[in-house]
Amino acid sequence: MKTTCKLCWGTNVLMIGVIAFAAYTFIFGKTGEVGDDGRTAVMISADEKELVLGEMRGLLEAVQAITGGLAENDLATVAESAHAVGMSSTGGEPAALIAKLPLEFKKLGMGTHQAFDDLGNEATDMGDAKVVLGMLGDVLQNCTACHASYRFDVEQGGS
Ligand code: HEC
Repeated sequence: MKTTCKLCWGTNVLMIGVIAFAAYTFIFGKTGEVGDDGRTAVMISADEKELVLGEMRGLLEAVQAITGGLAENDLATVAESAHAVGMSSTGGEPAALIAKLPLEFKKLGMGTHQAFDDLGNEATDMGDAKVVLGMLGDVLQNCTACHASYRFDVEQGGS
C-alpha cells in the first residue's frame, strides 16, 4: 500500500512536470536561430508555412480593402474588412504550430489582429477616415516590425 502510494505521488509529480513543460513550450515556443540576414528563423513544417503565408496574404488583402475604403470614404467597407482579420479570425491554427512560434511573435501577431478590430470599431463609432488612416499606419508598423525580425524556415524532415 505504502509503495503504491509512493508510486502514485511519483507519477503525479512526473505528470505535473510533463504538463508544465508542455504548457511552457506552448506559451513560450521556440527561440529560433538568428540567420545571416539578422532575422530569427522560426522553424515550422512546409504545411504550416503554407498555412501562415496564406494568412499573411489575407492580411495584405485586408490592408488593400481598407485603403480603398478610406479613399472612397466608405467606412462600412473599412470596418468589415478590418474585422475580417480581427480576433475572430484567430484560433484556427493547430496547437503544434502555436507551440513552435516564439512568444514575442505570438504577441505581435495577436496584437495585430486586435489592432484590426480596434480600427474596425473606430471606423464604425467615429467614422473619421483620417483617424482610421493613422491607425492603419500603426498596424503596418506591426507588419514591418515582425518582418524585420522573423522569417520562416522549413524544419529538416518536416513535410
Ligand atoms: C508576428 C509576425 C508577423 C506579423 C505581425 C505580420 N507578418 Fe507577414 N510574415 C511574417 C513572416 C515570418 C513571413 C515570412 C517571411 C519570410 O520567411 O521571409 C511573412 C510573410 C508575409 C507575406 C508574404 C506571403 C507569401 O505568400 O509569401 C505577406 C504578404 C505578409 N507577410 C503580409 C503581412 C501584413 C500585411 C501584415 C500586417 C497587417 C503582416 N504580414 C504581419 C510574419 C508576420
